Order: sequence, then structure tokens, then C-alpha cells
Amino acid sequence: MRVLAVTGLKGGVGKTATAVNLAALAGRSGHRTLLWDLDPQGAATHCFDLRPKLKGGAERLFGGDRDLQAAVKGTADPWVDVVPADVSLRNADLMVSASRKPGRVLRRLLNGASRRYDVAVLDCPAGLGAVAEAVVVTADLLLVPVLPAPLGVRAFEGYATFVAQETGADDLVAPFVSMIDRRKPLHRRMEAEIRTDRRFLNTVVPLSSAVERLGHEQVPTVVSTPRSLAADGYRRLWAEVSERAGL
Ligand SMILES: Nc1ncnc2c1ncn2[C@@H]1O[C@H](COP(=O)(O)OP(=O)(O)OP(=O)(O)O)[C@@H](O)[C@H]1O
Ligand SMILES: [Mg+2]
Repeated sequence: MRVLAVTGLKGGVGKTATAVNLAALAGRSGHRTLLWDLDPQGAATHCFDLRPKLKGGAERLFGGDRDLQAAVKGTADPWVDVVPADVSLRNADLMVSASRKPGRVLRRLLNGASRRYDVAVLDCPAGLGAVAEAVVVTADLLLVPVLPAPLGVRAFEGYATFVAQETGADDLVAPFVSMIDRRKPLHRRMEAEIRTDRRFLNTVVPLSSAVERLGHEQVPTVVSTPRSLAADGYRRLWAEVSERAGL
């Protein structure tokens, strides 16, 4: 099973929209896909039209009393299952820190599900707590949406430094430009600058009203609005990501 995390320091940059659409595209490619919603907001859960209810709660899951499969819910897509999030995840950092091997918690849970799924997509909350640390040492690829603005790039640099310190690896992080609006001169300038940075994926996901509707329609954009520019962006992103992850 390959583990793809959508993560980073910054909030509101398109992590959940990316996780939801990549999970749908992984399923469409014939991969048995598990989307794990690690964010107490439960946005990815909502986008797959599921109730925000983590069966058994986060404490039992991270405490080792339950396996991941017990929390899995099916979706309208036969190829995509979800581990939903609820507010019990709000203390997930404390729970993970308190466990005997904090870095191994997510990997141990995923290992229990690895025969059932080809791909796990982790939708992570923004920030650098114990869960984020565990994500860094668990994922095969860390996808980081970056807003084409100085503070977006700055946040990415902070995250990349954190990953380098934690793992020593320099090919784990896969940043890409998210929510670009090419009508804005600043976005165009930042895009040109970012294109010279070889760490970045080629794909750029545009700002698109089709994605804004995701929380309302509760269907992945690539399914609800396959002809939108954003859906095209997610398909390109999946092509790059699946090749890099060896899928
Ligand atoms: N490409 C896009 N075009 C337009 N709107 C987008 C795009 N990507 C995400 N959005 C919208 O922006 C908002 C934030 O997106 P999303 O929830 O995916 O970000 P996030 O990084 O997961 O946020 P958080 O850190 O709060 O979890 C949502 O309303 C979403 O629908
Ligand atoms: Mg999110």
C-alpha cells in the first residue's frame, strides 16, 4: 500500500479538496483506496457525504485498542472507503505523543489495513504537531499545496525544513501551486519564480468555482464537474503523483 499525505503548515490552501479528488482519481484508476480524514474539522468526511463520526473515537484508535478497519465507512464510490473524522480528533496530538512509539502510530494502524487497500490518502490538519510528525515518517509522498504568494512559499519552506530535519530525505516532499488566479499579477510572478524550483511538481491547480462547490455538493470535483479546469488540474496532479509513487 502506498501512502500519500496531503499536508503542510498552512490552513485553507486546498489540502482537503486535493485529498478528496486524488482519492476519487486513485479509485478510478482501479486502486482500492482509503481516504483517512485526520482533521477534527471532518471536511473530507463531509465531502464524501458521510457523517462526522469516528467509530470508537480517536482515543481508542490511537491508544491501540482498535484497528483502523473497524472505523472504515464505504462511500458511493465502490473503490473509495473513508476513515471519518470527528471532534474526538481535537486531542490527537496529545494521544499520539502519549503513545509508546509516537512516530509509529499511523504506520501501525495502516499496516493493519494494507492488504485491503492499494492506496491510502491522508487528509491532514495544518500545522506541525505530533500527528504531523507521524505523517512525515509514515507517508511515501508528502503533497503540499502552496499558494502562489510570498507567505505561501515561506510556509512551504518552513515545512520542507521540518521534513528534512525529521527524515533526512529530500525527495519526500512534493509541493505544487494551489488556487492560482492568473488574473493576479502577483500570482503570475510567483508562478514564474516557483517554476524554477525543481522540487515543485509541474501541475498547477487553478482557483475554480467548481471546487468552491465541493462542500455543498459533497461529490469530488472530478466526478461532479469533470470538464472544469480544476478537475483537469487534479487529473494532471494524479498522473504526476501516481508515477512518482510507483502506482
Ligand atoms: N482550487 C480551488 N479553487 C477554488 N476554491 C478552492 C480550491 N481549492 C480549495 N478551495 C476552497 O477553499 C476552501 C479551503 O479549501 P480546503 O478545505 O481544501 O483547504 P485546506 O487546506 O484543507 O483547509 P484546512 O487547513 O482548514 O483543512 C474550501 O472552501 C474549498 O472549497
Ligand atoms: Mg482540510
